[in-house]
Amino acid sequence: MAILEARDVETGYEDAKIIHGVDVDVYADELVTLIGPNGAGKSTLLKALFGMIECWDGTVVFNGEDITNLEPHRVTRKGICYVPQVDNIFPSLTVYENLRMGAYILDDVPEAALHDVYDRFPVLEERKNQVAGTLSGGQRQMLAMGRGLMVDPDLLFIDEPSAGLAPELVDDVFEKIVEIRDDGTAVLFVEQNARKALQVSDRGYVLEMGRNQFEGTGDELLENEQVEELYLGG
Ligand SMILES: Nc1ncnc2c1ncn2[C@@H]1O[C@H](COP(=O)(O)OP(=O)(O)O)[C@@H](O)[C@H]1O
Ligand SMILES: [Mg+2]
Repeated sequence: MAILEARDVETGYEDAKIIHGVDVDVYADELVTLIGPNGAGKSTLLKALFGMIECWDGTVVFNGEDITNLEPHRVTRKGICYVPQVDNIFPSLTVYENLRMGAYILDDVPEAALHDVYDRFPVLEERKNQVAGTLSGGQRQMLAMGRGLMVDPDLLFIDEPSAGLAPELVDDVFEKIVEIRDDGTAVLFVEQNARKALQVSDRGYVLEMGRNQFEGTGDELLENEQVEELYLGG
């Protein structure tokens, strides 16, 4: 059964409709990628699924429950965390303080989750007292993902985790995402690095101009000639 079922989602900004009836499913333990050209509406779709902007139409069902237009902190309580592309850490706080803030919906710091995050990202434990703004780009991305994992979500949304990273760091980030999936947290992520993302994904969706264009397993999309030509650089 899909843990996330989004159907006919429509949303946008002011009176500009950006997403025109999109469907997305994520099954438990799946790594799913959203690809598509710049401006296709990928980030907008994630925000609507997470309740950061209003869904104008359609439904978002999570673990069998309608969460359409629930506020983000309530969506987090249901088990979804969202790592935005930018402003995803507090630069003036320490690494530890950032992680603690990741669990702000809980009354206490979840020590078990904190240890899991430190195990997954040893560099965060080494630098727990360092001010986050002084981390490298790759370390910041690890921290952003670590924050999302502090509440042990069933599903993690990640928007362009590899943006601005050197190629060797892109592989590190993808490896971490695969590990997160392997350890039981489903992931829906947006990536410009489409070929590489599909190579590690169970399934993918191609979005263009706010509509579903293609969907399939990672391999199906990689082998699709149209997808290859239009979205993977031929
Ligand atoms: N806050 C905003 N206000 C108005 N328009 C926006 C806003 N954010 C994005 N858009 C517009 O929505 C469209 C989709 O953007 P976005 O979801 O960021 O695409 P993608 O993530 O696929 O690159 C673009 O035309 C963009 O200019
Ligand atoms: Mg985007």
